[in-house]
This record gives sequence, C-alpha cells and structure tokens, in this order.
Amino acid sequence: MSRPKVTVVGAGNVGATVAQRIGEAELADVMLIDIIEGMPQGKALDLQESAPVLGVDACYAGSNNLADMAGSHVVVVTAGLARKPGMSREDLLQKNSQIVGGIADAIRRHAPRSFVVVVSNPLDVMTWLVWRKTGFPRARVMGMAGVLDAARFAAFIGMELGVSVKDIRAVVLGGHGDLMVPLPRFSTVAGVPVTELIPAKRLAEIVQRTRDGGAEIVALLKTGSAFYAPSAAAVAMVKAILRDEKRILPVCALLQGEYGLSDLLVGVPARLGADGVEAVIELTLLAEEADALRKSAQRVKSNCEWVEKNCLA
Ligand code: 2OP
Repeated sequence: MSRPKVTVVGAGNVGATVAQRIGEAELADVMLIDIIEGMPQGKALDLQESAPVLGVDACYAGSNNLADMAGSHVVVVTAGLARKPGMSREDLLQKNSQIVGGIADAIRRHAPRSFVVVVSNPLDVMTWLVWRKTGFPRARVMGMAGVLDAARFAAFIGMELGVSVKDIRAVVLGGHGDLMVPLPRFSTVAGVPVTELIPAKRLAEIVQRTRDGGAEIVALLKTGSAFYAPSAAAVAMVKAILRDEKRILPVCALLQGEYGLSDLLVGVPARLGADGVEAVIELTLLAEEADALRKSAQRVKSNCEWVEKNCLA
C-alpha cells in the first residue's frame, strides 16, 4: 500500500507547522504549496533535512503549482492573509475569498476525491466557500476551528484548576469568531462539569478569554497570528481521518437540519474517521445556548451571503 499524501496549501507559519507535525508523526508524505517562489521548496527541504536527526520516515516536497496536489488524500488549506492587530476576521473576507476560491477550483480539478480541511480565516465562511466551489459532499469538506477554540478553553481551565489537560474535555460550538459558543455545561474535568468546579463569575471570564483567544495571541505577536495551536488542531483532524479514529471533535461542518440550521457550515461536534465527517452530533441545548448558537450562525450566514453577492457573482 502506498503512503498517503497530504497537501498543505499555504507555507506560512500555520502551513509549515502543519507539514512539520504531519511528517514528524509519520502520518503521510507532505506536499507544501505556496505562490512565493522557492519558499515552499526551501521549507520542505529544510524539513526533509530534519528527518535524519529525528529518525522519522517523513517525506516532504515543495511546489508553486497547485496541480501538484494531485493524488492527495487530504488537502489542508491554510493560504490567505493572517490577521493583523486590530483587524477582525471579517476584514479578511474579500481578499481571502479570492485566494481560497482559486484553491477550491484547483482542488476540484486536481484532487477531486480528497478530504479538505480548511484553516484560512474567516474560517466558517472560507469552509462554506470551499464546499460551494468544489461541490464535494459534506463528509469531505470541513473547517478547523472548534478543535482550536476548545483547546484554548481547555488550556485556560487547566491553568485555573491546576489539573492535567489530559483530564479535560472542553466543548465549543458555533462560528470561529467573537460569537463562538463555549459550553461550560458540557465541559468537564474527569467527568465533572466545570460549572461545579469554577465559580460562575470566574468561569464567565474564562469563556470570554476563550472567545478572544485568537486576538490575544495577535496582540502579543504583533506581526501575525497563532500557529502552534492552530496547526496542532488541524493535524488532529487529519490524523482522525487518515487513521480512521472515529474521534468526536468540534468541526465546522455542513448542517442539514441539525440544531435547526441548514445549508450553513458552522462548528458542531462531529465524528471524524476514514469517511471524513461521518456524523454530526446534536447536543440537547438549553434555550440560551441554542440562542447563542443561532446568533453565531446568523453572523456566519450573512458573511456567506456577502461573499455570494460580491465575490461569486
Ligand atoms: C486564531 O484564532 C487567527 O483565527 C486564528 O488564532
């Protein structure tokens, strides 16, 4: 059996770190693609030269040609402008629609059987755009945001309680933006809901810090946005598919009536395995949780409508 191939489009910090993590975990051979001449080739060669030191059977290649994604099992889309300080994810809408729209066309042409994991921002809109332009079934187009947002929530819970992150399960629904919906009721430490472990006022601060998690890193870095946690999150999804793990992860997926929402891609728990998004899991929400999800989904929907009108017409 030949080794699976994963193409990472966009060789910036997120893309290159995704490539590194995939290679070092010996998950697949990696093709790194970017428009900047020499850059993906240079990073791929540098990564290849790290393999003997680490003793990993990793195989990296770099290219400026999107056609080189041919034969990929999974394509990870990280290309696009990153957020700068003071810039909202929506500010990126127009520019990244052009970039990601072009990549979606290439995926349809060159990797028509691939699974696509979108990482570019604004995440939910870009994932919708890839779904819309490739025409792929919902199982094969998904966005990475919930794994990252839940990881941030879990990290803050761990820091607050002084417990191992291994014992924390955090749940975040909704769009990857200011209106995301962390769900303390479903977030647990060794099975105990955090609502029983952290006072309500403090928990509300942690929830807000989770919502602002991306902006907090942008403000600190000043010249770019987060990439260690986003790349780790994207690779967790790639691994779940390649290894048929059947993991339940928060994923930006097409909803077809679940949570009362349709024709919209937004973050929900889903089962990820060899068939991609194998099932969307519906949690029973309280009225205020459902309301928060609806508001978040509405924001995503209006941004998708804007792109439909201004970028696809
Ligand atoms: C993040 O949340 C920028 O969306 C990216 O870090």
